[in-house]
Amino acid sequence: MSEDSQAKKELAAIKGTKDILPGEVEIWQKAEAAARRTFELYGYRELRAPVFEATELFEKGTGETSDIVLKEMYTFTDKGGRSLTLRPEYTPSVVRAIVEHRLDLLPQPLRFYYMGPMFRYDKPQKGRYRQFHQIDIEVFGEKDPAIDAEIIEMAHSLLSSLNVTETETLVNSVGCKACRPAYHQALRAEARLKSESLCDDCRRKIDTNPLRIFDCKVETCRAVAEDFPRITDYLCAECSDHFARFRAYLDVYGLPYRVDPRLVRGLDYYTKTAFEIVTTKIGSQNAVCGGGRYDDMMKEFGGPDLCGIGFAMGMERLLSIAGIQAPPRKTLYLAYLGEEAKKAGMSLAGIFRKAGIECLVEFKDKGLKAHLGRASKTGAAWVVIVGEDELKKGRYPLKDMSSGIQTEGTPEEIMQSVKDRG
Ligand code: HAM
Repeated sequence: MSEDSQAKKELAAIKGTKDILPGEVEIWQKAEAAARRTFELYGYRELRAPVFEATELFEKGTGETSDIVLKEMYTFTDKGGRSLTLRPEYTPSVVRAIVEHRLDLLPQPLRFYYMGPMFRYDKPQKGRYRQFHQIDIEVFGEKDPAIDAEIIEMAHSLLSSLNVTETETLVNSVGCKACRPAYHQALRAEARLKSESLCDDCRRKIDTNPLRIFDCKVETCRAVAEDFPRITDYLCAECSDHFARFRAYLDVYGLPYRVDPRLVRGLDYYTKTAFEIVTTKIGSQNAVCGGGRYDDMMKEFGGPDLCGIGFAMGMERLLSIAGIQAPPRKTLYLAYLGEEAKKAGMSLAGIFRKAGIECLVEFKDKGLKAHLGRASKTGAAWVVIVGEDELKKGRYPLKDMSSGIQTEGTPEEIMQSVKDRG
Protein backbone atom coordinates (compact mmCIF):
# COMPACT_ATOMS: atom_id res chain seq x y z
CA MET A 1 0.00 0.00 0.00
CA SER A 2 1.37 3.45 -0.92
CA GLU A 3 1.93 6.02 1.82
CA ASP A 4 -0.97 8.08 0.46
CA SER A 5 -3.48 5.25 0.57
CA GLN A 6 -2.18 4.20 3.99
CA ALA A 7 -2.80 7.74 5.29
CA LYS A 8 -6.26 7.81 3.64
CA LYS A 9 -7.17 4.56 5.36
CA GLU A 10 -5.92 5.76 8.73
CA LEU A 11 -7.86 9.02 8.47
CA ALA A 12 -11.12 7.49 7.15
CA ALA A 13 -14.34 7.86 9.16
CA ILE A 14 -14.52 5.35 12.01
CA LYS A 15 -16.45 2.11 11.34
CA GLY A 16 -20.09 2.55 12.27
CA THR A 17 -20.05 6.34 11.77
CA LYS A 18 -21.25 8.23 8.72
CA ASP A 19 -20.84 11.63 7.12
CA ILE A 20 -24.13 13.26 6.29
CA LEU A 21 -23.39 15.22 3.16
CA PRO A 22 -25.18 18.09 1.42
CA GLY A 23 -28.11 16.65 -0.50
CA GLU A 24 -28.83 14.24 2.36
CA VAL A 25 -28.58 16.90 5.05
CA GLU A 26 -31.62 18.69 3.63
CA ILE A 27 -33.69 15.53 4.16
CA TRP A 28 -32.48 15.36 7.76
CA GLN A 29 -33.38 19.01 8.28
CA LYS A 30 -36.85 18.41 6.89
CA ALA A 31 -37.44 15.43 9.20
CA GLU A 32 -36.08 17.37 12.18
CA ALA A 33 -38.32 20.32 11.38
CA ALA A 34 -41.34 17.98 11.14
CA ALA A 35 -40.43 16.47 14.51
CA ARG A 36 -40.11 19.89 16.16
CA ARG A 37 -43.42 20.99 14.69
CA THR A 38 -45.23 17.84 15.79
CA PHE A 39 -43.80 17.82 19.31
CA GLU A 40 -44.48 21.52 19.86
CA LEU A 41 -48.09 21.00 18.76
CA TYR A 42 -48.43 18.68 21.76
CA GLY A 43 -46.77 21.13 24.16
CA TYR A 44 -43.21 19.75 24.21
CA ARG A 45 -40.20 22.03 24.64
CA GLU A 46 -36.64 21.37 23.56
CA LEU A 47 -33.98 20.47 26.10
CA ARG A 48 -30.31 20.02 25.21
CA ALA A 49 -27.98 18.06 27.46
CA PRO A 50 -24.25 17.32 27.04
CA VAL A 51 -22.97 14.58 24.77
CA PHE A 52 -20.87 13.03 27.54
CA GLU A 53 -21.79 12.39 31.15
CA ALA A 54 -20.42 10.64 34.21
CA THR A 55 -20.30 6.89 33.50
CA GLU A 56 -22.29 6.18 36.68
CA LEU A 57 -25.27 8.03 35.20
CA PHE A 58 -25.79 5.33 32.57
CA GLU A 59 -24.79 2.49 34.87
CA LYS A 60 -27.50 3.62 37.26
CA GLY A 61 -30.03 4.83 34.67
CA THR A 62 -29.74 2.56 31.62
CA GLY A 63 -28.98 -0.29 34.02
CA GLU A 64 -26.08 -2.54 34.90
CA THR A 65 -27.62 -5.64 33.34
CA SER A 66 -28.44 -4.01 30.00
CA ASP A 67 -26.32 -4.89 26.95
CA ILE A 68 -25.69 -1.18 26.49
CA VAL A 69 -23.89 -0.85 29.83
CA LEU A 70 -22.31 -4.31 29.73
CA LYS A 71 -20.94 -4.20 26.21
CA GLU A 72 -21.65 -1.07 24.25
CA MET A 73 -20.57 2.08 26.03
CA TYR A 74 -17.89 4.45 24.76
CA THR A 75 -16.24 5.02 28.11
CA PHE A 76 -12.99 6.87 28.64
CA THR A 77 -11.01 8.45 31.42
CA ASP A 78 -10.48 12.18 31.01
CA LYS A 79 -7.36 14.09 31.96
CA GLY A 80 -8.78 14.66 35.42
CA GLY A 81 -9.02 10.88 35.96
CA ARG A 82 -12.84 10.85 35.81
CA SER A 83 -14.68 8.07 34.00
CA LEU A 84 -16.91 9.59 31.32
CA THR A 85 -19.20 8.03 28.73
CA LEU A 86 -20.47 9.27 25.39
CA ARG A 87 -24.22 9.02 25.88
CA PRO A 88 -25.65 5.76 24.52
CA GLU A 89 -29.18 7.09 25.02
CA TYR A 90 -30.78 10.26 26.19
CA THR A 91 -33.27 9.37 28.93
CA PRO A 92 -30.88 9.33 31.95
CA SER A 93 -29.47 12.74 30.91
CA VAL A 94 -32.93 14.33 30.91
CA VAL A 95 -33.70 12.88 34.32
CA ARG A 96 -30.37 14.17 35.65
CA ALA A 97 -31.05 17.64 34.20
CA ILE A 98 -34.46 17.77 35.87
CA VAL A 99 -33.05 16.81 39.26
CA GLU A 100 -30.09 19.17 38.88
CA HIS A 101 -32.11 22.21 37.82
CA ARG A 102 -35.17 21.45 39.98
CA LEU A 103 -37.34 21.46 36.88
CA ASP A 104 -39.77 19.37 38.93
CA LEU A 105 -40.83 22.66 40.54
CA LEU A 106 -42.36 23.73 37.22
CA PRO A 107 -46.03 22.95 36.59
CA GLN A 108 -46.42 19.28 35.67
CA PRO A 109 -46.54 17.29 33.54
CA LEU A 110 -43.20 18.31 32.04
CA ARG A 111 -42.82 17.60 28.35
CA PHE A 112 -39.41 17.71 26.67
CA TYR A 113 -37.99 16.74 23.32
CA TYR A 114 -34.48 16.36 22.06
CA MET A 115 -32.51 15.44 18.92
CA GLY A 116 -28.90 14.44 18.63
CA PRO A 117 -26.20 11.83 18.27
CA MET A 118 -25.92 8.73 20.49
CA PHE A 119 -23.00 6.33 20.73
CA ARG A 120 -23.08 2.57 21.14
CA TYR A 121 -20.29 0.10 20.44
CA ASP A 122 -22.70 -2.07 18.48
CA LYS A 123 -21.83 -4.42 15.63
CA PRO A 124 -22.23 -2.12 12.62
CA GLN A 125 -24.69 -3.31 9.99
CA LYS A 126 -27.53 -1.81 7.99
CA GLY A 127 -29.66 0.20 10.43
CA ARG A 128 -27.18 -0.26 13.28
CA TYR A 129 -24.38 2.25 13.75
CA ARG A 130 -21.92 3.27 16.41
CA GLN A 131 -22.83 6.91 16.11
CA PHE A 132 -26.51 7.20 15.32
CA HIS A 133 -29.11 9.87 15.93
CA GLN A 134 -32.27 9.87 17.95
CA ILE A 135 -35.25 12.10 18.25
CA ASP A 136 -36.54 11.66 21.72
CA ILE A 137 -39.42 12.84 23.87
CA GLU A 138 -39.98 12.47 27.60
CA VAL A 139 -42.91 13.33 29.88
CA PHE A 140 -42.65 13.58 33.66
CA GLY A 141 -45.29 13.68 36.35
CA GLU A 142 -48.19 12.07 34.47
CA LYS A 143 -49.43 8.76 35.87
CA ASP A 144 -52.57 8.57 33.72
CA PRO A 145 -52.23 5.83 31.05
CA ALA A 146 -53.85 8.26 28.60
CA ILE A 147 -50.38 9.83 28.22
CA ASP A 148 -48.94 6.42 27.30
CA ALA A 149 -51.46 6.32 24.45
CA GLU A 150 -50.98 9.98 23.54
CA ILE A 151 -47.22 9.67 23.00
CA ILE A 152 -47.78 6.69 20.71
CA GLU A 153 -50.41 8.64 18.81
CA MET A 154 -47.92 11.55 18.56
CA ALA A 155 -45.23 9.18 17.25
CA HIS A 156 -47.65 7.99 14.57
CA SER A 157 -48.61 11.54 13.72
CA LEU A 158 -44.92 12.30 13.08
CA LEU A 159 -44.46 9.09 11.09
CA SER A 160 -47.41 9.83 8.87
CA SER A 161 -46.19 13.41 8.26
CA LEU A 162 -42.97 11.80 6.99
CA ASN A 163 -44.96 9.41 4.78
CA VAL A 164 -43.85 6.37 6.73
CA THR A 165 -46.20 3.48 6.04
CA GLU A 166 -46.33 -0.22 6.87
CA THR A 167 -45.64 0.00 10.57
CA GLU A 168 -46.83 -2.15 13.41
CA THR A 169 -47.16 -1.07 17.05
CA LEU A 170 -46.16 -3.65 19.63
CA VAL A 171 -47.16 -3.06 23.25
CA ASN A 172 -46.56 -4.81 26.53
CA SER A 173 -46.48 -4.19 30.25
CA VAL A 174 -43.29 -5.14 32.05
CA GLY A 175 -44.87 -4.72 35.50
CA CYS A 176 -43.37 -2.90 38.44
CA LYS A 177 -41.27 -3.52 41.53
CA ALA A 178 -44.28 -5.10 43.20
CA CYS A 179 -45.14 -7.71 40.58
CA ARG A 180 -41.81 -8.35 38.91
CA PRO A 181 -40.15 -10.43 41.69
CA ALA A 182 -42.80 -13.20 41.39
CA TYR A 183 -42.45 -13.13 37.62
CA HIS A 184 -38.64 -13.22 37.82
CA GLN A 185 -38.93 -16.25 40.07
CA ALA A 186 -41.19 -18.09 37.64
CA LEU A 187 -38.98 -17.09 34.70
CA ARG A 188 -35.79 -18.20 36.49
CA ALA A 189 -37.33 -21.56 37.37
CA GLU A 190 -38.33 -22.18 33.75
CA ALA A 191 -35.03 -20.89 32.34
CA ARG A 192 -33.06 -23.15 34.70
CA LEU A 193 -35.01 -26.15 33.41
CA LYS A 194 -34.09 -25.18 29.84
CA SER A 195 -30.59 -23.84 30.57
CA GLU A 196 -28.92 -26.55 28.48
CA SER A 197 -30.51 -25.05 25.38
CA LEU A 198 -29.58 -21.44 26.20
CA CYS A 199 -26.39 -19.62 25.14
CA ASP A 200 -23.73 -18.74 27.77
CA ASP A 201 -24.93 -15.14 27.84
CA CYS A 202 -28.52 -16.16 28.58
CA ARG A 203 -27.39 -18.63 31.24
CA ARG A 204 -25.65 -15.75 33.01
CA LYS A 205 -28.82 -13.65 32.67
CA ILE A 206 -30.84 -16.24 34.61
CA ASP A 207 -29.22 -14.92 37.79
CA THR A 208 -28.61 -11.27 36.90
CA ASN A 209 -31.84 -10.28 35.10
CA PRO A 210 -33.86 -13.12 33.48
CA LEU A 211 -35.99 -10.58 31.59
CA ARG A 212 -32.94 -9.85 29.42
CA ILE A 213 -33.12 -13.41 27.97
CA PHE A 214 -35.91 -12.10 25.73
CA ASP A 215 -33.45 -9.63 24.15
CA CYS A 216 -31.16 -12.44 22.97
CA LYS A 217 -30.72 -12.59 19.19
CA VAL A 218 -29.61 -16.27 19.11
CA GLU A 219 -32.28 -18.28 17.27
CA THR A 220 -32.26 -21.26 19.68
CA CYS A 221 -32.63 -18.95 22.70
CA ARG A 222 -35.52 -17.18 21.01
CA ALA A 223 -37.25 -20.45 20.28
CA VAL A 224 -36.81 -21.66 23.88
CA ALA A 225 -38.03 -18.34 25.29
CA GLU A 226 -41.25 -18.64 23.26
CA ASP A 227 -42.59 -21.03 25.90
CA PHE A 228 -41.41 -19.07 28.94
CA PRO A 229 -44.04 -17.61 31.30
CA ARG A 230 -45.56 -14.33 30.18
CA ILE A 231 -45.21 -11.20 32.28
CA THR A 232 -48.79 -10.24 31.49
CA ASP A 233 -49.94 -13.26 33.55
CA TYR A 234 -48.10 -11.92 36.61
CA LEU A 235 -49.11 -8.25 36.68
CA CYS A 236 -50.31 -6.81 39.98
CA ALA A 237 -53.77 -5.20 40.08
CA GLU A 238 -52.35 -1.69 39.54
CA CYS A 239 -50.19 -2.66 36.52
CA SER A 240 -52.97 -4.78 35.06
CA ASP A 241 -55.44 -1.90 35.35
CA HIS A 242 -52.90 0.53 33.85
CA PHE A 243 -52.30 -1.82 30.92
CA ALA A 244 -56.02 -2.29 30.24
CA ARG A 245 -56.72 1.46 30.38
CA PHE A 246 -53.70 2.23 28.20
CA ARG A 247 -55.04 -0.11 25.51
CA ALA A 248 -58.52 1.37 25.80
CA TYR A 249 -57.00 4.83 25.16
CA LEU A 250 -55.16 3.50 22.11
CA ASP A 251 -58.59 2.42 20.86
CA VAL A 252 -59.86 5.97 21.40
CA TYR A 253 -57.22 7.12 18.94
CA GLY A 254 -58.14 4.27 16.62
CA LEU A 255 -54.54 3.03 16.71
CA PRO A 256 -54.12 -0.65 15.92
CA TYR A 257 -51.55 -2.52 18.02
CA ARG A 258 -50.45 -6.03 18.92
CA VAL A 259 -49.71 -7.16 22.47
CA ASP A 260 -46.31 -8.84 22.48
CA PRO A 261 -45.68 -10.35 25.94
CA ARG A 262 -42.02 -10.90 25.04
CA LEU A 263 -41.37 -7.24 24.33
CA VAL A 264 -39.22 -6.28 27.32
CA ARG A 265 -36.90 -3.75 25.61
CA GLY A 266 -33.16 -3.77 26.20
CA LEU A 267 -32.99 -1.20 29.00
CA ASP A 268 -33.40 -1.96 32.69
CA TYR A 269 -35.54 0.97 33.79
CA TYR A 270 -38.96 0.26 32.30
CA THR A 271 -42.03 -0.17 34.48
CA LYS A 272 -45.55 -0.89 33.21
CA THR A 273 -45.86 0.20 29.55
CA ALA A 274 -43.23 -0.80 26.99
CA PHE A 275 -43.74 -0.37 23.26
CA GLU A 276 -42.06 -0.39 19.88
CA ILE A 277 -43.08 0.73 16.45
CA VAL A 278 -41.55 -1.63 13.91
CA THR A 279 -41.59 -1.57 10.16
CA THR A 280 -41.92 -4.39 7.72
CA LYS A 281 -39.91 -2.40 5.17
CA ILE A 282 -36.37 -2.83 6.55
CA GLY A 283 -34.51 -5.99 7.52
CA SER A 284 -33.72 -7.22 11.00
CA GLN A 285 -33.11 -3.75 12.53
CA ASN A 286 -36.78 -2.99 12.18
CA ALA A 287 -37.53 -0.98 15.35
CA VAL A 288 -37.99 2.62 14.31
CA CYS A 289 -39.27 3.81 17.66
CA GLY A 290 -38.97 2.36 21.14
CA GLY A 291 -40.09 3.59 24.49
CA GLY A 292 -41.99 3.09 27.68
CA ARG A 293 -42.67 4.16 31.20
CA TYR A 294 -39.97 4.45 33.84
CA ASP A 295 -41.59 5.47 37.09
CA ASP A 296 -38.63 4.88 39.43
CA MET A 297 -35.61 6.48 37.74
CA MET A 298 -35.97 10.01 39.12
CA LYS A 299 -36.32 8.76 42.70
CA GLU A 300 -33.34 6.46 42.22
CA PHE A 301 -31.30 9.48 41.07
CA GLY A 302 -31.98 11.13 44.44
CA GLY A 303 -34.69 13.36 42.96
CA PRO A 304 -38.39 13.68 43.65
CA ASP A 305 -40.77 10.77 43.12
CA LEU A 306 -41.79 11.77 39.62
CA CYS A 307 -42.87 9.16 37.10
CA GLY A 308 -41.58 9.31 33.53
CA ILE A 309 -42.45 8.02 30.08
CA GLY A 310 -40.96 8.61 26.64
CA PHE A 311 -39.71 7.22 23.39
CA ALA A 312 -36.86 7.60 20.96
CA MET A 313 -36.85 7.18 17.20
CA GLY A 314 -33.69 6.28 15.32
CA MET A 315 -33.16 8.89 12.61
CA GLU A 316 -31.16 6.64 10.28
CA ARG A 317 -33.86 3.96 10.34
CA LEU A 318 -36.61 6.54 10.08
CA LEU A 319 -35.07 8.18 7.02
CA SER A 320 -34.50 4.84 5.32
CA ILE A 321 -38.28 4.34 5.19
CA ALA A 322 -39.58 7.92 5.08
CA GLY A 323 -40.94 9.36 1.86
CA ILE A 324 -39.26 12.77 2.00
CA GLN A 325 -37.81 14.75 -0.86
CA ALA A 326 -35.16 17.40 -0.36
CA PRO A 327 -36.71 20.81 -1.03
CA PRO A 328 -35.42 22.37 -4.29
CA ARG A 329 -32.72 25.00 -3.84
CA LYS A 330 -33.56 28.43 -5.28
CA THR A 331 -30.23 30.15 -5.71
CA LEU A 332 -29.63 33.38 -7.55
CA TYR A 333 -26.20 33.44 -9.21
CA LEU A 334 -24.65 36.85 -9.58
CA ALA A 335 -22.55 37.10 -12.77
CA TYR A 336 -20.35 40.18 -13.01
CA LEU A 337 -18.16 41.37 -15.82
CA GLY A 338 -15.08 43.38 -14.78
CA GLU A 339 -13.71 44.77 -11.52
CA GLU A 340 -16.22 47.62 -11.09
CA ALA A 341 -19.15 45.25 -11.71
CA LYS A 342 -17.63 42.78 -9.24
CA LYS A 343 -17.69 45.39 -6.46
CA ALA A 344 -21.23 46.47 -7.37
CA GLY A 345 -22.27 42.81 -7.55
CA MET A 346 -20.89 42.18 -4.07
CA SER A 347 -23.08 45.00 -2.69
CA LEU A 348 -26.08 43.85 -4.70
CA ALA A 349 -25.70 40.32 -3.29
CA GLY A 350 -25.92 41.82 0.20
CA ILE A 351 -29.22 43.51 -0.71
CA PHE A 352 -30.65 40.28 -2.12
CA ARG A 353 -29.57 38.24 0.90
CA LYS A 354 -31.11 40.76 3.29
CA ALA A 355 -34.36 40.21 1.41
CA GLY A 356 -34.02 36.45 2.06
CA ILE A 357 -32.82 35.46 -1.41
CA GLU A 358 -30.04 32.88 -1.50
CA CYS A 359 -27.32 34.53 -3.56
CA LEU A 360 -24.07 33.12 -4.88
CA VAL A 361 -21.10 35.27 -5.97
CA GLU A 362 -17.90 33.63 -7.15
CA PHE A 363 -14.66 35.50 -7.20
CA LYS A 364 -12.77 33.93 -10.10
CA ASP A 365 -12.62 36.37 -13.01
CA LYS A 366 -14.85 34.92 -15.77
CA GLY A 367 -16.52 35.89 -19.02
CA LEU A 368 -20.30 35.80 -19.38
CA LYS A 369 -20.33 32.33 -20.97
CA ALA A 370 -18.19 30.87 -18.18
CA HIS A 371 -20.43 32.52 -15.57
CA LEU A 372 -23.56 31.03 -17.15
CA GLY A 373 -21.94 27.62 -17.38
CA ARG A 374 -20.96 27.77 -13.73
CA ALA A 375 -24.47 28.97 -12.74
CA SER A 376 -25.95 25.99 -14.53
CA LYS A 377 -23.50 23.58 -12.82
CA THR A 378 -24.36 24.95 -9.37
CA GLY A 379 -28.06 24.42 -10.15
CA ALA A 380 -28.87 28.13 -9.80
CA ALA A 381 -32.50 29.04 -10.48
CA TRP A 382 -31.70 32.55 -11.70
CA VAL A 383 -28.74 34.56 -12.95
CA VAL A 384 -28.44 38.32 -12.57
CA ILE A 385 -25.89 39.85 -14.92
CA VAL A 386 -23.95 42.92 -13.82
CA GLY A 387 -21.88 44.62 -16.53
CA GLU A 388 -20.71 48.20 -17.03
CA ASP A 389 -23.80 49.23 -19.06
CA GLU A 390 -26.15 47.70 -16.49
CA LEU A 391 -24.35 49.56 -13.74
CA LYS A 392 -24.87 52.86 -15.50
CA LYS A 393 -28.58 52.17 -16.11
CA GLY A 394 -29.24 50.65 -12.68
CA ARG A 395 -31.21 47.89 -14.45
CA TYR A 396 -29.99 44.31 -14.67
CA PRO A 397 -30.88 41.27 -16.79
CA LEU A 398 -32.50 38.43 -14.85
CA LYS A 399 -32.30 35.03 -16.52
CA ASP A 400 -34.64 32.25 -15.41
CA MET A 401 -32.42 29.18 -15.79
CA SER A 402 -35.21 26.63 -16.17
CA SER A 403 -37.16 28.48 -18.91
CA GLY A 404 -34.22 30.41 -20.35
CA ILE A 405 -36.43 33.56 -20.38
CA GLN A 406 -34.56 36.79 -19.73
CA THR A 407 -36.19 39.91 -18.28
CA GLU A 408 -34.72 43.08 -16.89
CA GLY A 409 -35.29 45.23 -13.82
CA THR A 410 -34.02 47.32 -10.94
CA PRO A 411 -32.78 45.41 -7.87
CA GLU A 412 -36.21 45.94 -6.26
CA GLU A 413 -38.03 44.63 -9.34
CA ILE A 414 -35.67 41.64 -9.50
CA MET A 415 -36.30 40.82 -5.82
CA GLN A 416 -40.03 41.02 -6.39
CA SER A 417 -40.03 38.82 -9.44
CA VAL A 418 -37.75 36.21 -7.78
CA LYS A 419 -40.05 36.15 -4.76
CA ASP A 420 -43.18 35.93 -6.92
CA ARG A 421 -41.77 32.91 -8.72
CA GLY A 422 -40.97 31.22 -5.39
P1 HAM B 1 -33.73 2.17 22.24
O1 HAM B 1 -34.73 1.15 21.88
O2 HAM B 1 -32.42 1.68 22.77
O3 HAM B 1 -34.43 3.11 23.32
O4 HAM B 1 -33.45 3.12 21.01
C1 HAM B 1 -34.51 3.79 20.37
C2 HAM B 1 -34.35 3.73 18.87
O5 HAM B 1 -33.05 4.18 18.49
C3 HAM B 1 -34.44 2.32 18.27
O6 HAM B 1 -35.77 1.93 18.07
C4 HAM B 1 -33.70 2.51 16.95
O7 HAM B 1 -34.57 3.09 15.98
C5 HAM B 1 -32.63 3.52 17.31
N1 HAM B 1 -31.33 2.84 17.55
C6 HAM B 1 -30.92 2.23 18.68
N2 HAM B 1 -29.68 1.75 18.54
C7 HAM B 1 -29.28 2.06 17.29
C8 HAM B 1 -28.08 1.87 16.52
N3 HAM B 1 -27.02 1.28 17.03
N4 HAM B 1 -28.04 2.35 15.25
C9 HAM B 1 -29.11 2.98 14.71
N5 HAM B 1 -30.26 3.22 15.39
C10 HAM B 1 -30.35 2.76 16.65
C11 HAM B 1 -33.82 4.17 23.91
O8 HAM B 1 -32.77 4.65 23.55
C12 HAM B 1 -34.64 4.79 25.02
N6 HAM B 1 -33.86 5.90 25.60
C13 HAM B 1 -36.00 5.26 24.51
C14 HAM B 1 -36.83 5.88 25.57
C15 HAM B 1 -37.03 7.21 25.78
N7 HAM B 1 -37.47 5.23 26.52
C16 HAM B 1 -38.09 6.11 27.30
N8 HAM B 1 -37.80 7.32 26.87
